[in-house]
Amino acid sequence: MKFRFAIISDPHLAVPYTINLDHTRFSLVEIGISAIDTVFSHLEQLELDFLLIPGDLTQNGEPDNHSWLQQRLAALPFPVYVVPGNHDIPTLYSTKDSIGPQDFPSYYRSHGYSDSHQCYYTHEILPGVQLIGLNSNQFNEDGEQLGCLDEKQLTWLEQLLPQLKDQFIMMIVHHNVIEHLPGQANHPLGKRYMLDNASLLLDLLKNTGCRLIFTGHLHVQDIAYHNDIYEITTGSLVSYPHPYRIIEIERTSKGSINVNIESHRVDRVPGWKNLATMSRQLLGDRSFPFMVKLLITSPFEISMKEAEKLVPHLKYFWADISEGDNILDFPEFPTEIRHYFQKFGSVKPDGTLALIDNCVCLKL
Ligand SMILES: [Fe+2]
Ligand SMILES: [Fe+2]
Repeated sequence: MKFRFAIISDPHLAVPYTINLDHTRFSLVEIGISAIDTVFSHLEQLELDFLLIPGDLTQNGEPDNHSWLQQRLAALPFPVYVVPGNHDIPTLYSTKDSIGPQDFPSYYRSHGYSDSHQCYYTHEILPGVQLIGLNSNQFNEDGEQLGCLDEKQLTWLEQLLPQLKDQFIMMIVHHNVIEHLPGQANHPLGKRYMLDNASLLLDLLKNTGCRLIFTGHLHVQDIAYHNDIYEITTGSLVSYPHPYRIIEIERTSKGSINVNIESHRVDRVPGWKNLATMSRQLLGDRSFPFMVKLLITSPFEISMKEAEKLVPHLKYFWADISEGDNILDFPEFPTEIRHYFQKFGSVKPDGTLALIDNCVCLKL
């Protein structure tokens, strides 16, 4: 078994006349088409077996954006498999502005949904390699969107997994299943990026052939590990640092499996000569209110006045988190707050930098 594939995530695609320019948003939707064209022209030169896109395919579920994207994907020389993100099916029923969950499979018949009328599916995509695509978008009785798996899907998965015991299983789902930030599952700002019922899914996956989960939604480059499972989350193509990944998986002669991950970045698109610098600056500016909120909410709940003193130091905190592989240290901060922020870094137990988020070889 040896194969190679790519991942892009959260392209939030918007054709020009649909672009909603919101200057508070972290995503630069206005560069989406150029960024996709840049990545695809690189990927087309590689002999890839497939491409995965774990959701937030479109700006906000606009029918024209889904149509544009599915046509663009169909023109690629390798298969593409997608799942919906919260922005792809933002309402329980379709409206004039966006599609609903019932419409999603029909847009992506060539991209995983060939025989599924649900927003989830499974296929043997290569001999012995099984892809499971899940839908992590549900709605409560008030029509509010939730990040969780519904019972019908969990039952389907519970019945499916024993049938796949000889397969190498890879899963794609939009919301995070394993924490990528310290305390993410319980933090008011972090938990909306996680599956509400992540622990149920992890229980189902125990002792199965599923060792790799690919997610998006958080817009951060990070690889997390829990109970024999690696979750590889890929940052958004339209927010700093505009990353994508190329992964090669090979079973060695001894039967172990090597997962070689390399990460690349889109660093220029027309009109954005130095995309990395401009985009990092923009994320620094736009993350200001978010950083204030982080300081004034639990666990610190410091006053607004104190937060305003610390927050200039945190200007590039979110940009550094989004890059992955960074040490985060603010020596001028009070000890307790300094220690809290240090935990967001990629460090070994001895405090030195661990390059674990972008380019790494995992051994399964
Ligand atoms: Fe997103
Ligand atoms: Fe999302």
